[in-house]
Amino acid sequence: MSLDKTPQKISKLFDGVAYRYDLLNDVMTGFSHRITRKLGLNLVGVKPNSRILDVATGTGDFPILLTKSHNVKQVIGIDISENMLHFAKLRTKNQSKIVYEYGNALELNFEANQFDLITIGYGIRNVPDTLKVLTEMNRVTKSGGKLLIVEATPPQSKYLNFLTHFYFKSIVPLVASLLAHNGEAYRYFAESVYQFPIAPKFCKIINSAGWVNIKYKPLYFGTVTIFLAEKP
Ligand SMILES: C[S@@+](CC[C@H](N)C(=O)[O-])C[C@H]1O[C@@H](n2cnc3c(N)ncnc32)[C@H](O)[C@@H]1O
Repeated sequence: MSLDKTPQKISKLFDGVAYRYDLLNDVMTGFSHRITRKLGLNLVGVKPNSRILDVATGTGDFPILLTKSHNVKQVIGIDISENMLHFAKLRTKNQSKIVYEYGNALELNFEANQFDLITIGYGIRNVPDTLKVLTEMNRVTKSGGKLLIVEATPPQSKYLNFLTHFYFKSIVPLVASLLAHNGEAYRYFAESVYQFPIAPKFCKIINSAGWVNIKYKPLYFGTVTIFLAEKP
């Protein structure tokens, strides 16, 4: 089944689950998504006074974490879902270092060579053209700047693949329909994980977009992967 990932479709999907997104994330990952972002930031290394772009920011987990635990200059969070941005803004009142804006990852509304670090958490699998987004992110990054991607990925072992497929396809939509009355949206999320390339293949796509020094770290039996890269 090919998934419709046009921004119109995806923004509607996330608009519909925004009010329960944080709760569902905690329940479905057993809070591990919080640790994963922290680990990603530690691995990429956040330089003091960095200017950071968080693409597909959702309800703002990366900007909140970055301003709490790192000495950053500014974090701009962009997203195509107005409802996700609404909840992000509610969570970060009085934080002058964070700016949230409507913005599409496929056409970043920024001039070239602006950011020290680009982050994208659980966002890249929702775009229709990953190469285009990776190329856009590369364009707006300064030379020597870094990229951090955290994404849900299909495990490489076929036994684990079978088990996690069951979890994502049966349990996740069931919990989502109970908590957010939106099993449909989470059926999409499950399918999108399984259509995402395995980690080594995705590293090649990152490289095609102009990034170098690409590394990846599979976590939780490969169901989540942290990808790191650098702009030459
Ligand atoms: C699963 S949520 C992740 C939110 C957040 N980054 C996190 O770590 O929890 C995916 C987000 O990607 C956003 N998104 C999907 N396609 C996008 C695009 N083309 N441009 C910008 N944001 C997009 C969705 O609206 C949604 O808020």
